[in-house]
Amino acid sequence: MAAEDPSISAVSAPMLSIIVPTFNEVDNVSLLLEKLKAVLPVQNWEVVFVDDDSTDGTKEALHRLCRKYPYVRSLERIGRRGLSSAVVEGILSTSAPFVAVMDADLQHDERLLPHMLEDLQSDKADLMVGSRYLEGGSTGEWEASRVRISRVATWLSGFITSVECTDTMSGFFMIRRSTFDAAVRQLSGQGFKILLDILASSPTPPRVKELPYTFGIRQHGESKLDALVTLEYINLILDKLVGRWIPVRFIIFSAVGGLGVVVHMAILTTAHVLGEPFLLSQSLATIVAMTFNFFLNNALTYRDKQLKGTWPLLKGLLSFFAVCSLGAVANVGIANVLFQRSFTWWLSAIAGIIVGVVWNFAATSIFIWRRR
Ligand code: GDD
Ligand code: MN
Repeated sequence: MAAEDPSISAVSAPMLSIIVPTFNEVDNVSLLLEKLKAVLPVQNWEVVFVDDDSTDGTKEALHRLCRKYPYVRSLERIGRRGLSSAVVEGILSTSAPFVAVMDADLQHDERLLPHMLEDLQSDKADLMVGSRYLEGGSTGEWEASRVRISRVATWLSGFITSVECTDTMSGFFMIRRSTFDAAVRQLSGQGFKILLDILASSPTPPRVKELPYTFGIRQHGESKLDALVTLEYINLILDKLVGRWIPVRFIIFSAVGGLGVVVHMAILTTAHVLGEPFLLSQSLATIVAMTFNFFLNNALTYRDKQLKGTWPLLKGLLSFFAVCSLGAVANVGIANVLFQRSFTWWLSAIAGIIVGVVWNFAATSIFIWRRR
């Protein structure tokens, strides 16, 4: 690292800030710090841990480190989760001209850091990426299933960025702060894939250089990647593809509505085959489909504002019935007016459905799943 006078660099603002998102990593944080100290000997760097209210004592471990080392900071968030948003807020909390992002669980090879910094400082690139897919790198002992998913996700990322990068899924990179700042307002900020988000949100393609490394195995704690991460990834892709025109939340809401129709028809058909009267079958199908939609919307569409507990859920469900009933009235009303003005029957129906869905979406996001 280019520090002419160590006594000055010890008190001056850091050149490099390493942002480390943590969620339940109590056994990893001090090990990571030791590794960083070993590869970055001169103190003109800092590390910022961004913790989302871990429950395993990570917070206390971080406080101990912060009190011991002035170049360790911790940023705490409460009531929120998300790897990408944690990274964004960590970066915004520093004024260092170069920022690295890496996981706390020792799966990323810290020995790359000095080389990444060197190349950024000598202006060889704007963004240095640790790649598992470049020659010399490897996914290590990662399970075959995770490697496959990662490959598919990397291929999908080609739809939203044309920047040459072999490992767009990498959670390990170093970026020039000005390059990050150019993209930050366009970031989707959802889910796990902050590097891809930055690549897809940069107004001009950053100069990317990759360095190979072998993905390590997690020694302590467990991975936080779950089914929701896949959904958030699809969310990111859709947001970058069509988000400018249609909110992704609306797309998911409509897809859930579509599934509701399938549920409705399945129940109606079954009841019909069993010889139940139509009115009863139709009513039953409607109630079950609406309930199904309510819970699916709660789990997917509005997962960041999820209602929890018996009472909030019951209140939400009843409000959802009320909102959807009004939506149905609007739907039939509009369709009927259009049909009477001699529009074709199916065009009238589609117009009615669109009005109904838009109403349902707007009303549920205002009255049921409110912004917190
Ligand atoms: N603050 C915060 N909030 N941190 C989180 C959250 C969260 O909601 N979820 C995960 N983290 C932290 C973990 O504590 C860890 O330090 C890091 O983010 C990565 O989480 P893992 O659960 O270990 O993810 P992974 O190993 O399955 O996947 C990682 O590596 C892949 C390959 O580089 C991620 O970085 C992926 O994005 C990446 O593709
Ligand atoms: Mn990991």
